[in-house]
Amino acid sequence: MHILIIGASRGLGLEFVAQYCAQGDAVTATARDEPGLERLRALGARPLQLDVADAASASGLAWPIDGEVFDTVIVNAGVFGPRTDGLQTPGEPDFDAVMHTNVLGPMRVLPQLVDALAPGARVAVISSRMGSMSLRGSSSGWLYRASKAALNSVLKDVSLVWAGKAICVALHPGWVRTDMGGAGADLEVPDAVADMRRTLALLKPADNGGFFNHDGQALAW
Ligand SMILES: NC(=O)c1ccc[n+]([C@@H]2O[C@H](COP(=O)([O-])OP(=O)(O)OC[C@H]3O[C@@H](n4cnc5c(N)ncnc54)[C@H](OP(=O)(O)O)[C@@H]3O)[C@@H](O)[C@H]2O)c1
Repeated sequence: MHILIIGASRGLGLEFVAQYCAQGDAVTATARDEPGLERLRALGARPLQLDVADAASASGLAWPIDGEVFDTVIVNAGVFGPRTDGLQTPGEPDFDAVMHTNVLGPMRVLPQLVDALAPGARVAVISSRMGSMSLRGSSSGWLYRASKAALNSVLKDVSLVWAGKAICVALHPGWVRTDMGGAGADLEVPDAVADMRRTLALLKPADNGGFFNHDGQALAW
């Protein structure tokens, strides 16, 4: 299998690289800086430098993957932004950073992959149930929530355009002990990633355009 992971310098992205490399898959993965690229190299992945929030960097993906065919693509890069509890209006720099990374980034990256997908390829964006409107019981981190709701919309559109060509899903990794999730989170990184890999492997064509928990349970938008 040939796997592409976007945003893999640490946390869930780096663990996806480690687990796919360990099972013998060919992995291409991106990081923004040299230490991140070195971590990918050390795991045996092909490292590419890419910042999804930078137009020139993100639009440069098509060239290094020209001629490649991926069985699985995971768009993982994300930022949380301000840790708010109520309705604190975000400043424009925070708004731009979160929306550019979590929404514009996938809108830049995904269209470039259209000719690099194996038949029936699995394409996942790492979303969050914090982006679900029907499951929502709190407004904490409302900028992040808005960005993941928008990401879910982006994924749905990709699933419509690529129907019959790829199985495209949004995944919630669980609340995971990464830099973003914090030490008090529910899940260890290897367990969350193992779950998501299993869920991706078991996807059927009818799952195209769906939203799934790490363990494969369907989630409401
Ligand atoms: N952890 C959780 O509990 C949880 C729950 C729900 C959803 N998620 C989602 O899961 C994904 C991974 O999160 P994580 O917990 O592993 O977070 P993390 O440890 O903070 O890692 C975030 C990753 O995204 C990369 N990234 C950030 N901005 C980027 C940009 N502009 N271009 C390219 N890469 C960029 C980071 O690269 P740098 O090292 O260069 O910053 C890093 O590799 C995110 O989309 C997050 O929203 C996480």
